[in-house]
Amino acid sequence: MSTMTPCGVRLAGCGSAVPEKRLTNDDLAGMMDTSDEWIVQRTGIRERRIVDPEKGEGELSLATEALRSAIDDAGMVPSDLDLIIHASVTSEMTCPSNACRIIAALDAQPAGGFDLVAACSGFVYAMNVADSLIRSGRYRSIGVVGCDAMSTAIDYTDRSVSILFGDAGGAAVLVRDPDPNRGCIHQTMNGDGRSWPSLFIPNSPSDIPKDFSDSGARMGTLRMDGREVYKFAVGKFREVIEDALAATGLSVDDISQFVCHQSNIRIIQSAMEKIGLPPEKVYINIDRFGNSSAGSVGLCLDQLWKAGKVNEGETIILVAFGGGLTWSSSVWKV
Ligand code: COA
Repeated sequence: MSTMTPCGVRLAGCGSAVPEKRLTNDDLAGMMDTSDEWIVQRTGIRERRIVDPEKGEGELSLATEALRSAIDDAGMVPSDLDLIIHASVTSEMTCPSNACRIIAALDAQPAGGFDLVAACSGFVYAMNVADSLIRSGRYRSIGVVGCDAMSTAIDYTDRSVSILFGDAGGAAVLVRDPDPNRGCIHQTMNGDGRSWPSLFIPNSPSDIPKDFSDSGARMGTLRMDGREVYKFAVGKFREVIEDALAATGLSVDDISQFVCHQSNIRIIQSAMEKIGLPPEKVYINIDRFGNSSAGSVGLCLDQLWKAGKVNEGETIILVAFGGGLTWSSSVWKV
């Protein structure tokens, strides 16, 4: 399965999965001191989906369903995949990786698989890695799934964090293509590890930096310095898009869709205004799904794909930023 002939990468199928259970702003207002008005005004979120552990739902089941639907969409079967890259920060266990459990659930062996941790940037990182591996000539087909069940890593007594997040998975199947100009034509994966305390999930009190003003939420749940993340995201979002355009020599007119991480409507709108992105090129679903971390960009991509808004020959940009802190872009000739 190896070839040294230059090749490109084709997006063969997309998929996604969201839980049925809805958590509205009014539901949250019944659990903590907040309101629908405050949440909508500061974030643009109206409701999010959350897994129901009593029905056996969790990150693993969501990620499996998302990838299964992408494989079906590609007209393939799971054993056609050489590799599965699964991006998440809410895998049930650290060993084995959820990638391996997805392989088992889909009966995709002998595909290899690994988990990738880049928080909300996870799906874009994984798309970049998958494209590079296929171009290496060693792999023909890779399943990429970004998924998070953030509700399992949230303490719903902490109003500063819990209002933002929801659960979702988004997936893509990438296959080798004879045209080297097809696939990811530009990619970046960056980070600033010094800023990790802006967004983290401590497992024990010793993980919490001494100068961090802790909410006292239970261990194993997300901590966030909302103002720091907001400042970082507003600047970085614009910078990442402008850098990707400059590096490829493309203009906003050349891009059919900017597929952006759904973190906060104000962050997305700020980038749209500063760069001059037309609303019809920036898909937004944060009102219905909140911030689903590694699930967010893949979910947007699948919804655009199913709506016929990502077509052969078009160029799209995937952009995300998140915990780490990390940020990433991926420019695709579809
Ligand atoms: N409901 C009502 N009031 C709330 C609240 C809630 N859910 N959460 C916080 N508040 C209160 C605070 O206690 C504070 O009250 P005070 O002024 O009496 O102290 C006030 O609202 C302002 O809090 P602040 O944290 O400064 O709000 P903000 O304007 O920064 O908005 C976020 C908070 C989280 C919405 C905003 O910082 C944000 O979106 N940050 C980026 C987060 C993000 O995108 N993370 C994921 C990155 S991938």
